[in-house]
Order: sequence, then C-alpha cells, then structure tokens
Amino acid sequence: MPGICRTSTILVSSFLLAGCLAQEEVPFAGGMPEPASAERGEAVAQEWCATCHARDESERAARPAEAGDGPSFAEIARREGRDELFLWDFLEEDHFPMPTYRLFPRERADIAAYIVSLRIEE
Ligand code: HEC
Repeated sequence: MPGICRTSTILVSSFLLAGCLAQEEVPFAGGMPEPASAERGEAVAQEWCATCHARDESERAARPAEAGDGPSFAEIARREGRDELFLWDFLEEDHFPMPTYRLFPRERADIAAYIVSLRIEE
C-alpha cells in the first residue's frame, strides 16, 4: 500500500511544519533572541528608562525631587509574577504614563533579564 504510506508521510510532515510555525509565535521558544544579557539590558535601561526608574531603593532615594516617579527596577523584580516572560510582554505594549517605546526584541529580552537579575542581587 505505497499510496497510503505516502499520504501519511505528507500528513505527518505538515503537522511537524505547523508545529514549527506555531512555535515561532512564542517568544521564548523561537522568536526571542538568546542568550539575553542583563548587562546590555542595564545599559538600555539607563538610556531610556532612568528618568523614571532607579535601579534600586537606595538609588531611588538619592534622586532629585524632579525625577519621574516610577517604581525602582528592584522593586518591580520583587513583585509577584514579574518573570522574564511577563516583562518581555509588558515591554511590547503601551503603558501610560510610560512613553511608547519601540524597543528591538533583543533590547526587550536584555531589559527583562536585567530586571529579573535585580531580584537575585537584593
Ligand atoms: C515617564 C516615566 C517613565 C519612563 C520613562 C519609563 N517608565 Fe516604566 N513605569 C512608570 C511608572 C509611573 C510606572 C508605574 C505604573 C504602575 O504603577 O502601574 C512604571 C512601571 C513599569 C514597570 C512595572 C510593570 C508592572 O506591572 O510591574 C516596568 C517593568 C517598567 N515600568 C519598565 C520600564 C522600562 C523598561 C522603561 C524604559 C524602556 C520604562 N519603564 C520607562 C514610568 C516610566
């Protein structure tokens, strides 16, 4: 029965292909660049986010009164459920009062790694 065999091979291949394509949609499985670098993330955060977000509480306390008043990254890292996947998603969306950023996937991944790394340090 060569015909049936060939048909099932094609079926199996298209399932496999569909599986691969579906995986591309999941940031950590396919689309998210690896490995993320907390060091690079800190540099990006310094450039774009530092006006409102200090690294940790002591840096936050030392800031001038006119600085924007976002929570420190260390504080965010300690919040429930703020893992890299959450932060990766968060940074793709708009969040008032934060300005709208168009970060590269690489930068989002790096910033997520940076924020999560602060949880371990504190
Ligand atoms: C104009 C000020 C401002 C800037 C600039 C800013 N943020 Fe924010 N951000 C805020 C404020 C205020 C909040 C707190 C909002 C709230 O309580 O939900 C916040 C919240 C957050 C949170 C917490 C989300 C949560 O649900 O725990 C993350 C993560 C974050 N910002 C990341 C960033 C990153 C990364 C950048 C730079 C790319 C940035 N922010 C730039 C003001 C800012």
